[in-house]
Amino acid sequence: MHKGTARAYTNIALIKYWGKKDDALILPMNNSLSLTLDAFFTDTTVTFDEQYTKDVFYLDTVLQDEKATAKVSRFLDLVREKMDRPLFATVESINHVPTAAGLASSASGLAALALACNEALRLNLSKTEVSRLARRGSGSACRSIFGGFVEWEQGTDDLSSFARPIEADRFEDELAMVFILLNDKQKDVSSRDGMKRTVDTSAFYPAWVNTAGEDLTLIKQAIAEKSFTKLGEVTEANALKMHATTLAATPPFTYWSPESLRAMEVVKSLRKDGLECYFTMDAGPNVKVLCKKQDRQQIIARLTQEFSAEQIICALTGPDAHSIETEV
Ligand code: PMV
Repeated sequence: MHKGTARAYTNIALIKYWGKKDDALILPMNNSLSLTLDAFFTDTTVTFDEQYTKDVFYLDTVLQDEKATAKVSRFLDLVREKMDRPLFATVESINHVPTAAGLASSASGLAALALACNEALRLNLSKTEVSRLARRGSGSACRSIFGGFVEWEQGTDDLSSFARPIEADRFEDELAMVFILLNDKQKDVSSRDGMKRTVDTSAFYPAWVNTAGEDLTLIKQAIAEKSFTKLGEVTEANALKMHATTLAATPPFTYWSPESLRAMEVVKSLRKDGLECYFTMDAGPNVKVLCKKQDRQQIIARLTQEFSAEQIICALTGPDAHSIETEV
């Protein structure tokens, strides 16, 4: 029996990954940059055993169906390529995210699985190698191997596409991200399908690719200067740009709900009142508010006048993914 357990934290991109140049290897069209957060994480235990006759996947102690298990098996196949004698595995994941939050946990989930496999099989992969492996499970997962600010270097092949931490002289400790959880009444478009449709059909997609590099340069300047204003402005503009590409896709789609728009307006009004904060959004209707850690209580207080307290969750910067000792 070969057993390993790992914990990985979710990350939210300030410069988004949106679109692949290689679907199989998950190579992105542009570099992205994220902040790892402490509030949401996944603990995963993987056990490889000679006795097992198939892969089995439990999520939050519930045995998963064939479709969910097949996704995990595809990832385990990549790991099995590294084994002399490939074995089946049982994967047990616990998502530490608020129930029904509608928050994608693929980043923390696949990062924890990659690291747990490294532990279980004593693969001795470096963090860079674990990041590359996690990338094959879910693109954004490669960034969850590291804490703080993280850049995913797009690369040109499997070897050159991985994430690495950005040295920020503890600027990341001055930040917070407040989540506004909103109900998704719309039909879901997965990030995978959304990206593909956008890359294939959106007239705005070339503009996204052409300006992603400039946004990255600007945000790295903001980090180097510890300029919160610049960091927030670039973050918000980049998210709006990403979401603009979906409106020009065929058929067009959006991840925004009326409530997302309301949340964005609330953020703007807070800003007008001198409480500096900026929003970002991913492949769903939730709005995330980037603010200074010192302002977070005031911002939460104002947001809870507009939304229920259960809809508001505050995260601070999170650490590297790490292994957790298990008894074998
Ligand atoms: O890693 P995926 O396939 O879940 O895609 C993530 C895409 C966005 O969340 C929209 C952007 C990002 O960089 O995380």
